[in-house]
Amino acid sequence: MCGIVGAVSQRNVEKILLEGLKRLEYRGYDSAGMALVHNQKFLINKAVGKVSALAELVQQSNISGKTGIAHTRWATHGIPSQNNAHPHTSENISIVHNGIIENYKELRSELIELGYVFLSETDTEAVVHLFHYHYKQTHDLMLSLQQTIKKLQGAYGLVVMCENEPDTILGTRSGSPLVVGIGIDENFLASDQLALRQVTDRFIYLEEGDVVKLRSNSIDIFDQSFSPVVREEVVISDVHDAADKDGFRHYMLKEIFEQPEAIARTLDGRISHESVVQDLLGEEARTVLSQVTQVQIVACGTSYHAGLIAKYAIEEWAGIPCLVDIASEYRYRKVIVPDNALFISISQSGETADTLAALRKAKASGYLSSLAICNVPNSSLVRESAFSLMTCAGVEIGVASTKAFTTQIVALQLVALMLAEKRKEEHKSIVQALHQLPDYCQRVLELNDRIEKISEHFVEKHHALFLGRGVQYPVAMEGALKLKEISYIHAEAYAAGELKHGPLALVDSDMPVITVAPNNELLEKLKSNLEEVQARGGKLYVFADQSAGFSEDANTQVFNLPHVPACIAPIIYTLPLQLLSYHVAVMRGTDVDQPRNLAKSVTVE
Ligand code: F6R
Repeated sequence: MCGIVGAVSQRNVEKILLEGLKRLEYRGYDSAGMALVHNQKFLINKAVGKVSALAELVQQSNISGKTGIAHTRWATHGIPSQNNAHPHTSENISIVHNGIIENYKELRSELIELGYVFLSETDTEAVVHLFHYHYKQTHDLMLSLQQTIKKLQGAYGLVVMCENEPDTILGTRSGSPLVVGIGIDENFLASDQLALRQVTDRFIYLEEGDVVKLRSNSIDIFDQSFSPVVREEVVISDVHDAADKDGFRHYMLKEIFEQPEAIARTLDGRISHESVVQDLLGEEARTVLSQVTQVQIVACGTSYHAGLIAKYAIEEWAGIPCLVDIASEYRYRKVIVPDNALFISISQSGETADTLAALRKAKASGYLSSLAICNVPNSSLVRESAFSLMTCAGVEIGVASTKAFTTQIVALQLVALMLAEKRKEEHKSIVQALHQLPDYCQRVLELNDRIEKISEHFVEKHHALFLGRGVQYPVAMEGALKLKEISYIHAEAYAAGELKHGPLALVDSDMPVITVAPNNELLEKLKSNLEEVQARGGKLYVFADQSAGFSEDANTQVFNLPHVPACIAPIIYTLPLQLLSYHVAVMRGTDVDQPRNLAKSVTVE
């Protein structure tokens, strides 16, 4: 999704801005642009496609400046084009914007009446003309920003620059993140701190409604009522540079292989030999969790699948009913909140607009408390939830979520154990299995070469079916999502028992059917379902427990996985499906790390 970088310095900033945009590439985008101010004049370059195309333009035009703003755009209003790319400019004002202005059509009509000419189809262009209109009257940047945002409905992270005041940039956020990077004789703004890690480790996370005025040697922050405020400075000491592929061909593959380590980090210090550390979230949370009699989980996409898997653990281990909703549905439906219900949101980024909106609705709906499972410290979701449990996946650059997903499942299992405090005697075997999980993951990743070979079978396919039963059904759903989002093959997941209620009609010799088959109480039922597929000439790819008794034939490929305790099976069976999607996508020549129409952080509704 869109990315913002801004800088005001005593040195030239074009290289800093380009590097910042490069670091935001993982979020997904389709065009990029940059405006510098030099001798009180804007120098603007925009390119459709990659940041490298913008970098070439900047180099050819040989421009530089000490103040600048830059943007990667993910098309919402209007096609990816130079005209629609940011920054948008109105005479002496230039703006970059993340989010969606919902009332832009009304604003646009009013501004056209006032004589403004629109060159793009974007909602952002209405904002820049509106700002210009106010600046023409007031000649005061802060006042103009105040008057502009009063008229905006929707979500925005905005950064503004003015030719007349070249040593200043302004920023504001509402529903879209913005962070200040603090330098020496220079300061920065970005939609994600990752964009600025090459220039600073000191950050201030702006809060909803905040406005900031940035100069090279001053940072002035105002809250939504325009009163000056001091926001905490955070120093990020993590030296890990996520922008390094470590010899892997793609970030996605690197991140798949990082899972044993990421899972070990997520467990580190949180489980003893036999049980979960009950004060993991603090004493207050422990008291809250002991009162919970119902759980509501809300998330989007892959994170939603982690929630579906967690439902099994919460209901089985803690004996507590658990509902799981897609955030974009939950936020608009009538919700009945029973007494003592805990609201859990799950998000890799912590900035997903629908998940945040669901949390805000939940906070106004009478839940006992709220808990965020998140991978990004200081994200909006973490800051707005009563409690948070961080996944320790490390920065995930590949747009398709892999290590974030498996660490979410682990974190949710820890929550399930905390909720099951009264059944402590059952914890021991689960906790011991969790201790073994990183090693099992390592063993499963050894299937990589064979999965790569078999991926050739999928290159020419247009459709695929994924099957699972019980907790493996959401694993199959995640497998189907991975395949479709990076290889663009249409893939559907079904609970295997549902096959005969319709989807069996799709099965023929051209339909690959991928199945996850641990050796559990549902194995025999699953085998019967697979016979229905075989009888119709379907091609089966079975990822099975080595003791499950599957044998290969012309239409059946079997991949043996180690026999693992049931509680960790959802993670173990996810890994080969990630590898399969990855290799199929590589063979089909798609942009694996930045697949089309998919964003890393979906900050608009
Ligand atoms: C798929 C994927 C998305 C995200 C979804 C929610 O691979 O990454 O489906 O899971 O957009 O994002 P977060 O977890 O950041 O809220």
